Amino acid sequence: VETHTASVEPDERPPACCFDEWASHNAERARKRGTAAPITRHLLAALEAQGLEDKTVLDLGCGTGDLALAALARGAARADGIDLGAGAIEDARSLAEERGFADRATFSVGNGAVDPLARHDVVALNRVLCCYPSVDHLLANSLGAAGDVYAYTAPIHTGPIGLFNRISIGVGNAWYRLRDQKFQGFRAFVHDLDAVDRAIVAAGFRKAHGAHRRVWQVAVFTRTDV
Ligand SMILES: C[S@@+](CC[C@H](N)C(=O)[O-])C[C@H]1O[C@@H](n2cnc3c(N)ncnc32)[C@H](O)[C@@H]1O
Repeated sequence: VETHTASVEPDERPPACCFDEWASHNAERARKRGTAAPITRHLLAALEAQGLEDKTVLDLGCGTGDLALAALARGAARADGIDLGAGAIEDARSLAEERGFADRATFSVGNGAVDPLARHDVVALNRVLCCYPSVDHLLANSLGAAGDVYAYTAPIHTGPIGLFNRISIGVGNAWYRLRDQKFQGFRAFVHDLDAVDRAIVAAGFRKAHGAHRRVWQVAVFTRTDV
């Protein structure tokens, strides 16, 4: 399992892998529950504490747009989502229509590590760093788009929970390797989040919120130079 900040060159068109299938389950769950995943709700509360009202939000690696749509429901002016998976983006667009947010939300297929990203007040990567190998490219590109706030959730990498994450993600990767045709080379990662935090701080942010929730680290950073 990858435990360091990977510096491999980003693949411009990485396979969207299994996420279309995951996305359609996620969209169904979102329709039934009408609420985001527990970790997404925690991240939203931390973002709200920094102020979401009238902000523009980039939900990078948006999946079915859980965070983007919830941010709009909490008063954000606009929300844009980008994801590698065309199926996820279709589901996000349908959910935006169903919830009456289509005029304030855009969802597009793209690679957040290499595609040009428009500046947004808030940039969030919710459960995304663990699904992409070139975390330093993803960080560098997305930090350049962050106006006031930068946030992520990612698997904890230290202590007993870090060990648990490395084992469970390692088992998952063994399964992906066995079924490589279906998963198209996809692997999950437990990145070094201390290195991630250092990169965010070096880009001009300070940590405003940090917490552990089950297997996830939640971190929200605000700009120091505003
Ligand atoms: C575990 S899902 C999380 C989706 C959503 N953020 C959520 O929490 O419901 C990870 C998502 O990140 C997307 N992703 C991974 N690397 C990406 C990249 N470089 N650019 C855009 N999306 C990416 C995947 O396609 C996938 O939909």
